[in-house]
Amino acid sequence: MNRHQRQNSPAQGASPRRATAPEPAPIIIRVNGRPVPALEGQSVLAALHAAGIRTLRRSDRHGEPRGALCAMGVCFECRVTINGQPGIQACMTEVEDGMDIRTDGY
Ligand code: FES
Repeated sequence: MNRHQRQNSPAQGASPRRATAPEPAPIIIRVNGRPVPALEGQSVLAALHAAGIRTLRRSDRHGEPRGALCAMGVCFECRVTINGQPGIQACMTEVEDGMDIRTDGY
């Protein structure tokens, strides 16, 4: 028995092969009316960034583009409208199949 066989042998105390996590299911969300692919379990922010969408809203004062800063629920710069409800934090919300997200109206 060589060294590799000894290290991977359950009889020698090595753990059995680990099960891998299942692949997340692909879903479709709608962003400003366009279909966008996403993965089950992703945050809305991750799905938007994966689709190349960085501007999530415009500032009230001068209309400058605003985007996520912290990605952990602290800064509130990632607010979007989801299924008609404005002011939802994209970084703290999980995508759902068919979810309607608006980045242009908040
Ligand atoms: S990116 Fe800061 S709260 Fe979402």
